[in-house]
Amino acid sequence: ETTLRAAAAKAGLFFGVAASPGRLSSIVGQEFNQLTPENDMKPSTIATSSGGLQNTGNADTLVNHAQTNSMLVRGHTMVWHSQAGALQGASQATLNTFIGNALTRWGNKVAYWDVVNEALDDNNTGNRRTQWPHSLNRDANGDGDLFDATDTDVIRDSFTRAKQVVQANGLTTKLCINDYDVEGLTVRGGTANRKANALYDIVRNYRQLIDCVGFQAHFNDNPNSIISDDLQANIQRFADLGVEVHLTELDIDDDLSNNDIGQGQADNYRKVVRACLNVAKCTGITVWGIADSESWRASERGLLFTGSSGNYQKKAAYTAVLDELNKG
Ligand code: G3I
Repeated sequence: ETTLRAAAAKAGLFFGVAASPGRLSSIVGQEFNQLTPENDMKPSTIATSSGGLQNTGNADTLVNHAQTNSMLVRGHTMVWHSQAGALQGASQATLNTFIGNALTRWGNKVAYWDVVNEALDDNNTGNRRTQWPHSLNRDANGDGDLFDATDTDVIRDSFTRAKQVVQANGLTTKLCINDYDVEGLTVRGGTANRKANALYDIVRNYRQLIDCVGFQAHFNDNPNSIISDDLQANIQRFADLGVEVHLTELDIDDDLSNNDIGQGQADNYRKVVRACLNVAKCTGITVWGIADSESWRASERGLLFTGSSGNYQKKAAYTAVLDELNKG
């Protein structure tokens, strides 16, 4: 196959891209069969303070483009400490209202929704974040987890609401939890990845509520964000819980090869794509933008194209990904 989407489809995956309306050139539908709004479905764009919707025009544009080009859509994202906009500081009841509105607004046009994003603390502690919305959490019996019926857990409560809405409306939309630095079983130096372990415990405990897990896969020089050899094993253990696994925001620092594993960016892409291909329930990969110049971290040149809209050029990383996908 000669496009990422065709090669991925043959291998049983979707291959997607994050986009904004300003980036919707023909390449989006040619190369990719899944689309994630990079910013336009975030509460900061679409939520009112009472959990209603506003300013949905950009999101509609992206969803329509996806429909026209037979692309899946990943909704991104509902419950997040960042870019919360008018929802900042909201109660669980208001979050639940927003969850219901967002889910029913696009219905089955959205195949996957990131219901909860980045719930876990940085620095490989394995703890939940403490700021809102996680400040809503209460460990009622003081046993160190939030999994008991008497505890209050914004993750459980948000997924419970989302699942109710899906069932009440007969939707097929799958409900995902998404995070970063959770990709490997270990981090640099062979230390256990406690953040990944904490995510695993959440998915295991809430398996009836959670359909899919997103590993953001922003690989860089942070000791917790390297591409470790146990990426595939970590994907596999989540898959073994019965959930779909996705690499949701893939980009790979071009300098990573000089500092960590001594290979080029293209080889790193190949390795990551292979890890997903080797696990049947790893069902999709999304790159976080088209060209380096358009990336949230442009200086790291982490994507598959150079140039800019109207003049994109394929990098070695593109060729490596296409080749690896074509191997199936
Ligand atoms: O659109 C405004 C523009 O009008 C204004 O002049 C300009 C001035 O700063 O800001 C523009 O908005 C920026 C927006 O990107 C669009 O470019 C925001 O400031 C900027 O904060 C926003 O950054 C986004 C970031 O999330 C915010 O947290 C990035 O594009 C987006 O790639 C990034 O994506 C996140 C995922 O959602 C979650 N995982 C990590 C990932 C990377 O940070």
